[in-house]
Amino acid sequence: MACFVFILPLLLPLMKAQVLHWGSCPEPVTQPEFNLKQFMGRWFEIARLPAQFEKGRCIETNFTLNVDGSIQVVSSEILKGGIRKIAGRATVVDPKNPAKLGISFPHVLPYAPYWILSTDYVNSAVMYSCTDVLKLFHVDFAWILSRSRSLPAPNISHAKDIFTSNSVDVSRMVLTSQQGCD
Ligand SMILES: *[C@@H]1O[C@H](CO)[C@@H](O)[C@H](O)[C@H]1NC(C)=O
Ligand SMILES: *[C@@H]1O[C@H](CO)[C@@H](O)[C@H](O)[C@H]1NC(C)=O
Repeated sequence: MACFVFILPLLLPLMKAQVLHWGSCPEPVTQPEFNLKQFMGRWFEIARLPAQFEKGRCIETNFTLNVDGSIQVVSSEILKGGIRKIAGRATVVDPKNPAKLGISFPHVLPYAPYWILSTDYVNSAVMYSCTDVLKLFHVDFAWILSRSRSLPAPNISHAKDIFTSNSVDVSRMVLTSQQGCD
């Protein structure tokens, strides 16, 4: 029971975002021989599964490698005319698979997995996060990122196929507005 009480405050916003699925997390294939250094820098969010903590437009994330090997993650968005920034810290969880990062944003969500399913480093990236809850259901997030503010429709569609072929349901994915940002 104590466990339920603890997780409820976390679950309520997630349930509102409707990203709850029955069963445990899928186990998607991640980017082979992932090169962390090449992945660093600025990425624009092109599409996402609806997430309660992202409501604005012009969402982008800047990844910087720290001297201790961790990654500084700064996401920003324009919400109600103002720029809102949030800083987090990511680390490689399993050195044997550096494409599996763990990320923590203070005051938003607990430490969460942050996996790079696929990237060519210079054009686009397909990112996924999934957390099992009580082994009964899972909560997931998915993002399509691009090095520029737009991505051709066939590339978006290809990115969605990567999720689908890994049993990730992206039918509710929404495009992020990247209009009038600069
Ligand atoms: C990304 O972060 C680094 C380190 O803080 C900074 O030097 C760089 O200007 C940032 N780039 C963008 C586009 O915000
Ligand atoms: C879109 O996909 C094509 C074919 O895979 C690729 O050559 C091109 O670099 C991609 N463009 C972007 C911006 O990702």
